[in-house]
Amino acid sequence: MAIREIKGGVFSIGVIDWDRRIFDELIPLPNGTSYNAYLIKGREKTALIDTVDPTKEYELLANLQKLGVENIDYVISNHAEQDHSGTIPKILELYPDARVVTNEKCKEFLIELLLIQEEKFLVIKDGETLPLGGKTLEFIIAPWVHWPETMLTYLKEDKILFPCDLFGSHLATSDLYAIEECMVYTSAKKYYAEIMMPFRTSIKKHMERIDGIDVDLIAPSHGPVYHKPKFILDAYEDWVSDNVKNEVIIPYVSMHGSTEKMVDYFIHALMERNIIVKPFNITKTDIGELAMALVDAATVVIASPTVLAGPHPSVVYAAYLVNALRPKTKFVSVIGSYGWGGKMVEFLTETLTNLKSDVLEPVVIKGYPKPEDFKELERLADKIFMKHKEQNVFK
Ligand code: FEO
Repeated sequence: MAIREIKGGVFSIGVIDWDRRIFDELIPLPNGTSYNAYLIKGREKTALIDTVDPTKEYELLANLQKLGVENIDYVISNHAEQDHSGTIPKILELYPDARVVTNEKCKEFLIELLLIQEEKFLVIKDGETLPLGGKTLEFIIAPWVHWPETMLTYLKEDKILFPCDLFGSHLATSDLYAIEECMVYTSAKKYYAEIMMPFRTSIKKHMERIDGIDVDLIAPSHGPVYHKPKFILDAYEDWVSDNVKNEVIIPYVSMHGSTEKMVDYFIHALMERNIIVKPFNITKTDIGELAMALVDAATVVIASPTVLAGPHPSVVYAAYLVNALRPKTKFVSVIGSYGWGGKMVEFLTETLTNLKSDVLEPVVIKGYPKPEDFKELERLADKIFMKHKEQNVFK
C-alpha cells in the first residue's frame, strides 16, 4: 500500500489485500480488506501502531524501508488477533530494541499465539500515557471489542483515535479516507454485523467513553480512515441501540417446494401489511448479507422443511449463526413443512436462546400448503404487524 501522511509525522503504512475473499474461513469478503498500520514519529521516539497479516509482511517491511525507518521504539498492539499482530515477531527481529506496548491480557495472548518473549513487553494500564516527544499516546482498555484483550490508542496532540477492529470495514480501496460514504457505510455495517454485533453491550458502554474524547480522525485497522468521525460514530450509536426496524428476516431452505410456497405467500402477506421483508435462501445467500440484515430487524422467521426429524442442516447452520451473532431481534418464529413428523420447532427455538426474543406461534404444516395453512400464515403476519406496531417501528 502506498505510504500516506495523515497528519504531520503520522503515516498510514499498512497493506491492502485486494484478493482476500474469506476471513476466519467463515466471513465472506466480497470487497477484500486492508490491514492498516500507522507509524508515528515523535521528536524522541517512534511508534508503530499494529502490524499486518503475516501473508503481507513483506509489504509492511517495504514501507518501513521506503520511509527510511531505522529505529522503532514501540510497537503498540491494540489487539492480539494475527491479522494485526502476526508481523510483530518479524518487526522485533528487524528492530531488536523495540518494545511491544500493550495491556496485560494482550501480552498473555501474544506470548501464547506468537511466542514473543516476555522481556520484549512494556505493559500499560488503562488511561496510561506514553510520550514520544511532542506526541503523546494514551491507552484506553476496551475489552470485548472482538476479543477480551482489546484496547484503543489515542494520539492526543493530533486528536487521532486508533481503535483497531472497532469501527473498521472489510473494504479494499485506494481511498485513504471514507469518501464514498454509501460504500463505506455498507461495508462498515456488514463488518459490525459479522464481528462486533455479539459484543453490542460492551461496545455501547465503550461508546460513552469514546464520545467524551475530542477526535479529528478515527483510523481503524481495516478499511478507510474516518475524516468525519461523526459519520461512523452516529452509525454505531444506531446499530448498538435497542431500536429495531420494521423488518422481517426470513432465512430459509426448501427441498421440494412446500416451504418455498409458504415463504412466497408469507412474504406477500407481510408486504401487504407494509412490513419490509428480507428473505435469504441459505443455499444461495452470502452469509454476510444475512448478518447485516440482522443488525436492526425486529423479527426473524426461520423457514425449513423437516429432514430426518429436524430442521434442514443448512437452516441449522443459519440458526446457529444467528444465535451466535446475538442480534437485537425482538420476535422469532418458525414456518415450514414436514412429511411424517419431527421436532423442528423445538430444535430451532432451543438454538436461538441468546436472542432473548418472544417466540410467536409457528406455522408448521404437513405436506404442501393448503388454504387453511395460508390462513395460518395470515394469522402470523397479523401477529407480527401487531407486535411491530407496539414497538413503534412504523414510520
Ligand atoms: Fe481484525 Fe479481530 O482482527
